[in-house]
Amino acid sequence: MQPKVYVTRRIPESGIALLQESCDVEIWDSDDVVPRDTFLAAVADKDAVLCLLTEKIDAETLSVAKNAKIFANMAVGFDNIDVPECTKRGVMASNTPGVLTDTTADFAFTLLMAAARRIREGHEFVHAGKWETWGPLLLMGQDIHHATLGLVGLGRIGTEMARRGQGFSMRVLYNDVVRREDLEQELGLEYVDFDTVLRESDFVSLHVPYMPETHHLISTDELAKMKQSAVLINTARGPIVDPAALYTALSSGEIWAAGLDVTDPEPIPMDDPLLTLDNCLVAPHIASASFQTRSDMSELAANNILAALAGERPPTILNPELLGDS
Ligand code: GLV
Repeated sequence: MQPKVYVTRRIPESGIALLQESCDVEIWDSDDVVPRDTFLAAVADKDAVLCLLTEKIDAETLSVAKNAKIFANMAVGFDNIDVPECTKRGVMASNTPGVLTDTTADFAFTLLMAAARRIREGHEFVHAGKWETWGPLLLMGQDIHHATLGLVGLGRIGTEMARRGQGFSMRVLYNDVVRREDLEQELGLEYVDFDTVLRESDFVSLHVPYMPETHHLISTDELAKMKQSAVLINTARGPIVDPAALYTALSSGEIWAAGLDVTDPEPIPMDDPLLTLDNCLVAPHIASASFQTRSDMSELAANNILAALAGERPPTILNPELLGDS
C-alpha cells in the first residue's frame, strides 16, 4: 500500500506530481483555508502532511495525526508549527528555505521602491481622472539611491536585501543577534545596534523570524526613534509590528510611509484603520509568489516528505536531532 499524504491546499502541480509518483495523495482542492475540523479529520490517517502557514501544527494536531512522520511546511517561516512539540513526539517538521530567498528580497525591494515613490497613489490618481498636467509638486517621494537602508535581521533574505541596496548605492546598516563580519566585508555593511538602525535609516526593513522575542519589536518607542521621512518595510510576519502604534505613527507623520506584505491579523480586516491611509501600502502576503519560486517551494516540501517516508534525511528538516546524526 502506498503511503497516504494530505496536502492542505491547491499548490503548484510540480510538487503534487512528485508526491503522486509514490504516494496516495489527498488534496484540500480549494484556494480557501481548510476548516480546522476537516483538517483534523483528514490528517488522522495520513503518513505525511504538506501544510501551509495557515495551518496550526500544535499538540492537538499532533495527537490526532498519529501516523504522521512529517509535517512539511510550504513556507520558510514556521511560526505555525510547534517544533519542540513535534520533536517530543518524534515527528519531523520541515520548511522551504533557500528557494524563495531572492524572490522575497526582490519583493521587499519592490515594496520599498513603491512606497518611496508613491506608485499606488500615482496609479489611483490616474485612474481617478485627476491627471491634468505635469506637476512640479505632484506626488513627490523619497530618494532611494544613496539613502540609508537599515536591516533588522541579516539572514538569507536580509542579506539579499543588502545586495539590492548596494545596487542602488545605499549605505546599508544592520542589526542581528549574530554579527556577520564576513558579509560586512563582502557587502560593505555596517553592524550597528538596533537603536542606530532605527535612528539613522531612511528605510527600515524587517527580516527576523516571528517568535516571542520579536512580538511587537516595532512599537510606539521604536517608531518614535525613526526619522520623520522614514519608510518601514515588513515582509517578515505581521505581529512583529504593533499595528495600532504603526497607525498612530503613520497618521501623525511620525514616520513617512510603510510597505507591508504581512499584517496582523491576516487577512487584514477591511475596517482596519491602516487601510484608510494613503501612506500605507499593503500587499496580501505575496513576497515569494513568483511562478518559479512557488513551484520550487512545492517541490522542496514534497521532497522533504518523500525523504521522510523513505527513511532518509529530509533536505530542510527543522528538527534534525530526531535523526540522531547531528
Ligand atoms: C512566507 O511567508 C514564508 O514564510 O515562506
